[in-house]
Amino acid sequence: MDMKNTLAGLEVGYDVPALPGMAEADIQTPCLILDLDALERNVRKLGEFVKAHGMRLRVHGKMHKSVDVAKLQIAIGGAVGVCCQKVSEAEAFVRGGIGDILVSNQVRDAMKIDRLARLPGLGAAVTVCVDDAANVGELSAAAVRHNATLGCLVELDCGMDRCGVATPEEVVALARAIDAAPGLTFEGVQAYHGAAQHIEDYAGRKAALDKAIALVKETAGALEAAGLKPPLVSGAGTGTFAFESGSGVYNELQCGSYAFMDADYGRIRDKDGKRLDETEWEHALFILTGVMSHPKPNRAICDAGLKAQSLDSGLPVVFGRDDVRYIRCSDEHGTIDDPTGALKVNDKLRLVPGHCDPTCNMHDWYVGVRDGRVETVWPVSARGKGY
Ligand SMILES: Cc1ncc(COP(=O)(O)O)c(C=O)c1O
Repeated sequence: MDMKNTLAGLEVGYDVPALPGMAEADIQTPCLILDLDALERNVRKLGEFVKAHGMRLRVHGKMHKSVDVAKLQIAIGGAVGVCCQKVSEAEAFVRGGIGDILVSNQVRDAMKIDRLARLPGLGAAVTVCVDDAANVGELSAAAVRHNATLGCLVELDCGMDRCGVATPEEVVALARAIDAAPGLTFEGVQAYHGAAQHIEDYAGRKAALDKAIALVKETAGALEAAGLKPPLVSGAGTGTFAFESGSGVYNELQCGSYAFMDADYGRIRDKDGKRLDETEWEHALFILTGVMSHPKPNRAICDAGLKAQSLDSGLPVVFGRDDVRYIRCSDEHGTIDDPTGALKVNDKLRLVPGHCDPTCNMHDWYVGVRDGRVETVWPVSARGKGY
């Protein structure tokens, strides 16, 4: 065991779950760990894809909420910047030095709009989605007040049934209003089909995207006919980005989960029926958990329960172990089925969370590991920033 517990004023346990140089076995659990080799391979792989397909990549920062991960995606993964969903997330990324931010969401509260319009003054190019004419006036007034320029994407509902206008005509009307508004620039169309991302079979995802792409093409055509050719057509996530990239109409991708890869995404299938975590992306994010009790021969209890993970997409999967299974949890306990009695107290397990985004938002730190040692400890910079 490494007994060196402090570094530069940070104390293990009190401030951070680990320090660089510690053995993985000594990391204080439960905590998020990143397999840095796997993360870097995922990040490079999408970077190579976007380069080969002539796409622009603005990675979704809502997934990891980490300035450090975003900087890695920019440095080695071809990303130009990040998307985020909330003004407070955008503030965290801008303060962290990320220079190109898309808030892929609607901002309507007056103070939030004001905060958004201050961000270009801190040196970032800021773009936001719009689906209502009144919002154009609100954003324009704030941009003028702060002597700023805000880019705007008109959000088209291309199948998700969330925000966004429904028809090409409405997109054109909003694009005209943006184009005429002081302080705003029309940057194009936001067309993200979130409902298609996790459709397990490839044919189902393709059918959903075929429909979306037809509407997006019609919309881009209508904009061009109106003299407002969209500079950007932006969307796509980990489940569908190949379709958008081959569409001939999208030119920007917003993938997020590919970098960490959760258990739910691992289950979806590629065109040969193979799991995405076998063929496309490696699991790089884990909840490291320690066994704290073995009350029955076939039952172990670990220290990662509900407060360490989101269960909206199912229970976590124990990584690299076919012999044990995470079967139940309460606030601070996870129950592990251990039919052969393979586990001992203080054994550590890597859990692949069901859904990475909300799980990351529950933690303060990512502990980056390589070859069994802690290499880095990164803050979850925008953790809890939902306002
Ligand atoms: C608007 C938007 N774009 C992109 C993404 C990224 O998707 P994924 O994490 O599935 O790659 C999301 C995720 O929910 C999203 O809401």
